Amino acid sequence: MAIIAVSGRKGGIGKTTITANLAGELASMGHKVAVLDTDPQKSLLKWASLGDGLLSRVVVSLDTSHPRRFKGQVDSVHAVADRVLIDTPPGFADPALLAALLADVVLMPAGPSPLDIIAAREAIDVTRQARSRRGDGLPLILLVPSKVVAGTAMGRDLPATLASLGEPVLPAIGQRVALAECALSGLTIGEYAKGSPGHREFKALAEALEKEIA
Ligand SMILES: Nc1ncnc2c1ncn2[C@@H]1O[C@H](COP(=O)(O)OP(=O)(O)OP(=O)(O)O)[C@@H](O)[C@H]1O
Ligand SMILES: [Mg+2]
Repeated sequence: MAIIAVSGRKGGIGKTTITANLAGELASMGHKVAVLDTDPQKSLLKWASLGDGLLSRVVVSLDTSHPRRFKGQVDSVHAVADRVLIDTPPGFADPALLAALLADVVLMPAGPSPLDIIAAREAIDVTRQARSRRGDGLPLILLVPSKVVAGTAMGRDLPATLASLGEPVLPAIGQRVALAECALSGLTIGEYAKGSPGHREFKALAEALEKEIA
């Protein structure tokens, strides 16, 4: 059983892409997944509505404006799904903070630019504050190198740069056309391009995540 929030200060860094495709991989590993879209932009709900695959069945949009009701809704979803993924909007607004207060894991995608690293550091600080407020040692913070462009020095150095922020780093997701295309078709990468490099990266990411939460 695990509640996994995907959060970050930076917009457009791959939070929704990672939420959707991790859901696909966790489902194909045999987990019962639920995906909660707490972003007022409803990007994930729109993605899911474009196709007829897994996401069309497991994504629901949740309003976080009443924190106690939100927690109740997450708990009831968690009672029937063993992996609950929560996509949050950028900037550590209320949905991301609320998710950090109830998640077991906060996944933080981070890109290779210096501004991305600064944003990741800030997001880690906010999440650590949520962790000390809770007092149960959770959430676990896991960093995910995201939108990494192959063959660049910044991309190559990113895992080591992120590791210096003091939290574990999971396998990277590259900048790949198929990952943008699968959203347009309403599918996960495993449904859209099974066995492609992007799909293999998400398999590796899901396996590494499972090891961390085992
Ligand atoms: N690894 C990737 N390779 C190629 N395109 C990607 C990748 N990850 C994300 N994208 C594209 O980048 C854009 C932003 O991605 P996404 O919506 O996942 O980011 P986000 O962090 O959820 O954004 P927001 O902060 O607005 O919620 C989308 O068009 C998406 O298809
Ligand atoms: Mg998003």
